[in-house]
Amino acid sequence: MLVLGIESTCDETAFAVVREGKEILSNVIASQIDLQKDFGGVVPELAARRHVDAITPLLEQCLQEAGVPLNEIDLIAVAHGPGLIGPLTIGVTAAKALSLSLQKPFIGVNHIEAHLYGAIMSSTEPVEFPALGVVISGGHTALVLMHGIGHYSLIGQSVDDAIGEAFDKVARILRLPYPGGPEIERLAASGDARRYPFKAGKVKDAPLSFSFSGLKTSVLYTVNGQNVSESRGSQLDMQEISDVAASFQWAALMDIVEKSLAAAQLYGLNTLVLGGGVTNNQKLREFFTQADPVMRYCWPNKGLSVDNAAMIAGLGYHCFLNRGEGDAYDLEAKTCIPFGV
Ligand code: KG4
Ligand code: ZN
Repeated sequence: MLVLGIESTCDETAFAVVREGKEILSNVIASQIDLQKDFGGVVPELAARRHVDAITPLLEQCLQEAGVPLNEIDLIAVAHGPGLIGPLTIGVTAAKALSLSLQKPFIGVNHIEAHLYGAIMSSTEPVEFPALGVVISGGHTALVLMHGIGHYSLIGQSVDDAIGEAFDKVARILRLPYPGGPEIERLAASGDARRYPFKAGKVKDAPLSFSFSGLKTSVLYTVNGQNVSESRGSQLDMQEISDVAASFQWAALMDIVEKSLAAAQLYGLNTLVLGGGVTNNQKLREFFTQADPVMRYCWPNKGLSVDNAAMIAGLGYHCFLNRGEGDAYDLEAKTCIPFGV
């Protein structure tokens, strides 16, 4: 079965052709970083307009790279949420239009679940369930009990900022370009992680929940002083900025490591499936292995961690097989979708 995947939840337009949920024939992305970086984040209306411009030429490029004509596609899978409503609507409308004109089924998949599938499709060994899913992206931070592909229960999430969002906001405080995650990681490499005693938040009576907004504010006060209007940001020298980056990165990533391993222990799990853009961070991978060298870690391959359409096509294949049918044309784009739905 050849599945065409479409991703447009945020600021990346992406298409992929995937065979049997696993073999990637093409995986192309039109990033909007050039457009969004001037704003230090994503402007939804601009993102939606750029998706409209990118979508047709990118589809053609995707099919050409896969060597597959459009009429050989068996199923169209699209991320129908969660995400920004304007950008989502472009992808969902494109999927319905293709489905209707080709007379082939289409299916909407959950973008967050697809991030976890990105790690599963990267694995050379079959992943053993139950496993703990760790979603660490720009929009979400979540711990998920994975009973099998498509069967999940949420056991913890962020009550405020997502981890990637915290990286992006701290980068902005340090006047680094968007997206901030890779910039912070680069700067942190020459910084002292013990210089500033930053800490991620604990949530009362919810040990597996996350909170990063206090951590972000501590960084803001350290950089700009308590009175933000009298900014002394420029007084930090390069070494201090690197130390802030390293100390923040350590606090944020160790929080993910500690809560993930605590959850795995609580539920008796020995496999972690990790997805989302923050899995790109090499320090995170190091911290996990140092903290628990015996645990099995399932990481996404390059190209399958940040937003992409191969993970959408791959998960779409399994959803279609599980359900035995596609979605009706009244399926809507949704800014929020509960886990496992
Ligand atoms: O999964 P993704 O493409 O977007 C969402 O679905 O939200 O993740 C993008 C996020 C951004 O916040 C970016 O700063 C972060 O992933 N990111 C990183 C790294 N590379 C990307 N964060 C920390 N370290 C990195 N190396
Ligand atoms: Zn994503």
